[in-house]
Amino acid sequence: MLYSEKVLDHFSNPRNVGEIEDADGIGEVGNAKCGDIMKMYLKIDKGIISDVKFKTYGCGAAVATSSMATELIKGKPVEDALKLTNQAVVEALDGLPQVKIHCSVLAEQAIKSALSDYYTRQGIDPLPIVGEIKEPEE
Ligand code: FES
Repeated sequence: MLYSEKVLDHFSNPRNVGEIEDADGIGEVGNAKCGDIMKMYLKIDKGIISDVKFKTYGCGAAVATSSMATELIKGKPVEDALKLTNQAVVEALDGLPQVKIHCSVLAEQAIKSALSDYYTRQGIDPLPIVGEIKEPEE
């Protein structure tokens, strides 16, 4: 089996799909090679990610990784979201085929992009906190 049960579950039944109208941070990243796009919306109350939604126009692994990424940060402090790596998302999904790892990077970067927007809106320079948003090119 190429994909784990968890990947298939999150692909066919993705969690937290949609938009947040009054989001506190919105991020969008794309992968130039495959053309997939991910959009991430964060609602942040007193430093806690109280809600998160995403929209992914992309492959199955991109849908599954963004779904899992939102589950991993929902209800957590912003600091935890800042530390979320694509490896953590892949592990939570019981693995991904090597050729699909870049899809999980897109999920990590989409969250970072939304956090950057959150800090920018507050007049805080996001670069020292969030780091650079890298769009994977594999
Ligand atoms: Fe583009 Fe998966 S193939 S994100």
